[in-house]
Amino acid sequence: SQLEKGGFPHFMLKEIYEQPRTIIDCIRGRINPEGTDVILSGVRDHQDKFLKAGRIIIVACGTSWHAGLIGEHLIEELCRIPVEVEYASEFRYRNPVIRPNDIVITLSQSGETADTLAAVELARNSGAFIYGICNVIGSSIARATDSGSYIHVGPEIGVASTKAFTGQVTVLIMLALSVAKLKKSISPELYTTMLHDLQQIPQLMERVLKLDTEICDLAKIFTYAHNFIYLGRGYNYPVALEGALKLKEISYIHAEGYPAAEMKHGPIALIDSEMPVVAIATADSVYEKTISNIQEIKARRGKVIAIVTEGNEDVRKMVDYVIEIPRVDERLIPLVVSLPLQMLAYHIAVNKNRDVDRPRNLAKSVTVE
Ligand code: AGP
Repeated sequence: SQLEKGGFPHFMLKEIYEQPRTIIDCIRGRINPEGTDVILSGVRDHQDKFLKAGRIIIVACGTSWHAGLIGEHLIEELCRIPVEVEYASEFRYRNPVIRPNDIVITLSQSGETADTLAAVELARNSGAFIYGICNVIGSSIARATDSGSYIHVGPEIGVASTKAFTGQVTVLIMLALSVAKLKKSISPELYTTMLHDLQQIPQLMERVLKLDTEICDLAKIFTYAHNFIYLGRGYNYPVALEGALKLKEISYIHAEGYPAAEMKHGPIALIDSEMPVVAIATADSVYEKTISNIQEIKARRGKVIAIVTEGNEDVRKMVDYVIEIPRVDERLIPLVVSLPLQMLAYHIAVNKNRDVDRPRNLAKSVTVE
């Protein structure tokens, strides 16, 4: 009903706007009052498992799998534990090697996804420690795991996942920081910076939500596009995949996410003046590399919408449209940059008169294999 949507026309928009609040709910009780230390109880209670982990395997589906890819970057960079990310639907049917000192991390908003639950059951027999990151309290996956952390973002009604994704990424950041501190694999400086910036995220999200009118105007220009490409590198590569998935599922426009440098190995053949390209070119360690990828797109007359860090003037000269987001530590950029992508998909879908909250052919939780 209208009341449940809190005055918003769709649950999806309500859930996009809830994110500053849901991040606060997600980090509450996990960061000390001084804001100087973070620990997830699931990690604290099983320190030995994390200290002796030979490998971490992340299994999930869809948006949760995209969050898992960000988790891979975070855990490998900060904790120096090798990580593999698997589609639950593939993992469960391929007789994977799982060792007793592996940790299997599973991500699921609903906690009821059939393939993910089956992957967890498969992993149980291997003796590996299983850590669940779910939203729905008491869900099947939450119950089937040895330990875990809830994301605490509240009920997500829109089929297109928004606040659950940023909640999952937030938990993965806190998990990586907790484990890295235990392992002493992170410098005190980086630990402090990331923890400080994490606590700024709700405020930064509030600022990004103010871009709504700007993004709504941009959506009008691209409503009738037949295809879209989303590009990112490093921490933003999974964000590009997620941006493309959001657009596909609610607008039914064909969209592909790619790591920007992979374009030259094939997909760049698709580029002409009819192809909109959303390029994430924020201030991070791969910024310069991403810029040369954008130049390759412009040389083929692609229409580029770039997401940049505020104050960037160079990209503006190069591309067709620019969306500016506030500056934040590179590892936290996915939390901020996801919002304009969610809003862009939302407005395009609304312009096309799509059933945004209940897109065709999709269910909120996929309880069949
Ligand atoms: C996201 O927008 C999707 N509708 C879908 O990919 C979803 O993330 C996937 O089905 C996994 O669901 P889960 O997180 O509840 O396990």
